[in-house]
Amino acid sequence: MIYLDNSATTKPFPEVIESYTAVAANYFGNPSSIHRLGMEAEKLLMQARAQIAALLEVKPSEIYFTSGGTEGNNMALKGVSSLYKTRGKHIITTRIEHDSIKRVMEQLEQDGFTITYLPVDEQGFVAVDDIKKHIQNDTILVSIMHVNNETGAIQNIAEIGELLNHYPKILFHVDGVQAIGKTPLSFKDHHIDLYTMSAHKFHGLKGNGILYAKEGLLLSPLLAGGGQERNMRSGTENVAGAVSTAKALRMQMENYKMHFSKIQELNKFIRKQLEGMDGTMVHSPVHSVPHIINFSAEGIKAEVLIHALEEKGIFISTTSACSSKTNTVSKTLLAMGVPEHIAESSFRISLAYENNKKELEEAMTVLKETIHWLRGVMNK
Ligand SMILES: Cc1ncc(COP(=O)(O)O)c(C=O)c1O
Repeated sequence: MIYLDNSATTKPFPEVIESYTAVAANYFGNPSSIHRLGMEAEKLLMQARAQIAALLEVKPSEIYFTSGGTEGNNMALKGVSSLYKTRGKHIITTRIEHDSIKRVMEQLEQDGFTITYLPVDEQGFVAVDDIKKHIQNDTILVSIMHVNNETGAIQNIAEIGELLNHYPKILFHVDGVQAIGKTPLSFKDHHIDLYTMSAHKFHGLKGNGILYAKEGLLLSPLLAGGGQERNMRSGTENVAGAVSTAKALRMQMENYKMHFSKIQELNKFIRKQLEGMDGTMVHSPVHSVPHIINFSAEGIKAEVLIHALEEKGIFISTTSACSSKTNTVSKTLLAMGVPEHIAESSFRISLAYENNKKELEEAMTVLKETIHWLRGVMNK
């Protein structure tokens, strides 16, 4: 098997599974219980929070455990809009956000909020000036993704943070699900108020996530109940999930340093191969994370190629895992001005530390042959 769909999800590090199992089996106490078992579990939870905070160079009190990226994004957007709606009902975002942002924005529109969806250029980048132009007196939040899940484009978070630093009443949320542990960034230096992360994108386990919320920032909680996570996210804490997430993040960060140049080389190799093929086009801009490469193969039906490759043990995806089943055309590529018939035939190869040159050589040979064969079948 050659797995090249790491932006959909990654294979957990074996050590992460081991730590989850050990904690779930041996430290099953409820962290809220006042007896020894509860206190042991609470200690582990505090340690996991402190480890994550240290890795992200923030305070433990700024870390909230969630169930993943979707919850983190909902918690940030709904939490801010509900609490600050008396201050204003205008939010700025982009046309290329993940559905866990886009759908929330649509719900907020139903609740009377006005949302500005900023366009992107042909490379997939938002213009910082455009953000400035759209700021109003009643703007309460700007939400911009860090790395696009379909193309890998890295938005200019540093400059956006710098701009928003001049507007202390506007909160800055960043969906960092595809970025964390894969492209360095300082939340503090870039004036980020909220940053969403998801463990299964960095070799952690599904159902675990982290929301960074700057100290002192209040959110209206999505979940009301026993008041866990300092009243921001009620529900008995997933201690084993938190401990394994801390481990995954540390390992991912170490891995990034060790494997970055290898992944960059693999990216160059894939791009070169794709650029040498007839009727294919690479859509990921140069300023992208090296582990995501988006390309189109004109005239090829996306799901047909995906399944033909799968038969040969190669796993890639259409533009994003969420839209792949609903057969929707990539909104990111459309927003970049890619014609619909090309966007319909687009694919995403996404790499991780385990991938190597030999398997990529094999995958690219099979990809070329399969596209060639499918074109032949279609023209008969
Ligand atoms: C950019 C982005 N945001 C949010 C999410 C949702 O994360 P989760 O699957 O943890 O809910 C994803 C998942 O693909 C994503 O790519």
